[in-house]
Amino acid sequence: MAHILLRHRDIENIRKLDIYRANGGYEGLKKAVTDMTPDDVKNVVRASGLRGRGGAGFPTGIKWGFIPKGAEEVYVVINTDESETGTFKDRELSEFNPHQVIEGAIIAAYAIGAKVIYNYFRGEFMDAAYAMEEAIQECYAHNLLGENILGTDFSCDFHCHYGAGAYICGEETALINSLMGDLGQPWSKPPFPALEGLYAKPTVVNNTETLANVPPIIVNGAEWYTSMGTGKSAGPKIVCLSGHVNKPGNYEVIMGATYRQIIFDEKYGGGIPDGKAFKALLPSGGSGPVITEEALDAPLTYEGLTEHGSVMGSASLIVMDETTDMVWAALKMSHFFKHESCGKCTPCREGTFWMERVLKRIYAGQGTRRDIEVLGSVAQQIGGRTLCALGDFAINPVLSTLKHFRSEYEAKIRETNEILLTAVAIAAD
Ligand SMILES: Cc1cc2nc3c(=O)[nH]c(=O)nc-3n(C[C@H](O)[C@H](O)[C@H](O)COP(=O)(O)O)c2cc1C
Repeated sequence: MAHILLRHRDIENIRKLDIYRANGGYEGLKKAVTDMTPDDVKNVVRASGLRGRGGAGFPTGIKWGFIPKGAEEVYVVINTDESETGTFKDRELSEFNPHQVIEGAIIAAYAIGAKVIYNYFRGEFMDAAYAMEEAIQECYAHNLLGENILGTDFSCDFHCHYGAGAYICGEETALINSLMGDLGQPWSKPPFPALEGLYAKPTVVNNTETLANVPPIIVNGAEWYTSMGTGKSAGPKIVCLSGHVNKPGNYEVIMGATYRQIIFDEKYGGGIPDGKAFKALLPSGGSGPVITEEALDAPLTYEGLTEHGSVMGSASLIVMDETTDMVWAALKMSHFFKHESCGKCTPCREGTFWMERVLKRIYAGQGTRRDIEVLGSVAQQIGGRTLCALGDFAINPVLSTLKHFRSEYEAKIRETNEILLTAVAIAAD
């Protein structure tokens, strides 16, 4: 089946405007601005069931509908921060199919009445940035951006802003602060960006992949889109596959494909190298709870992993084979979250620090049984108590490895430490 999002894999040089247009590009924008009202556009996107591809899965049409009608100054912000561990889909889209992202963003701007689009772009993605800038210039030269787009009275500008590579700046409120030149730290919602976002004006923040879905939805209609996938999870999804698989990379699947198919089918991951056995999967990069073999037949959908205690998130699948030390894996993730915590709220700043410290001790064979309890307890105290979801993400690899692989933690406990600790306790008495 031809790709809907990763179209550059079927059509050479679709990053160029003339090739994109020769293959139906900007027909969605033309249809929207000439034949449809902004409300029509919002209704089609709502009926399509498109949900955010940045991780949280919020329905896109409903989000656009939150923007107050008639507001003077509103913004569309594209989230190309792509900061989740193991995620590299927005980079490929931006580098090789940038016009589809730009077209989706212009349609979003038309729907909500925005005259300016900002693309918050991960600064390290230099090749993707060049491709995106080139595509923007082509749009200005061909009346697809700027004044009176396609001869209508709709005008819109587009700017790219290059972030410095902080995980927290993928969180929408931290992203907005960073875009305004402030410290990249989140604020406590409400206010939600849809009412008070960039420059305190109503703002829609959408993930890059989410917006790339919009042009084909406008061209082909909501029913075409809902015919793919499952009821609550419609359309295509780009999966980022990495870790212990034969063929890591981005794959476009229709929602509902199973995790097992994606890891083992020849047309996707092609199984685990050297015939090793599967051990565990981080289904949403480092931020989602790990799953084990018994969950692999679940469908890749927003709800598919709920009964297994995990989430699809941005669908970055990190595969771990039988040789993986799960305490080491939890430590790696904890190091990442401690490093990336912005420090604004105490439970996240202190909690991620202590989780990493205790995990280091356990991994080095210096831990006690009590350390395992402390680790679990610190994680529990972070959960639900932080300003943004980073804290909740940080505890997922810890609590889920404690749940599924506790014996690996226990195997690292040195009995001598237990004896020493008891001796210290007796002496203190
Ligand atoms: C710590 C953290 C990091 C995030 N990083 C990203 C990111 O890199 N890209 C992204 O699109 N969304 C990211 N999000 C989610 C955004 O806050 C927001 O939900 C998303 O951009 C909305 O777009 P969507 O509705 O199209 O998915 C992150 C959230 C958190 C809490």
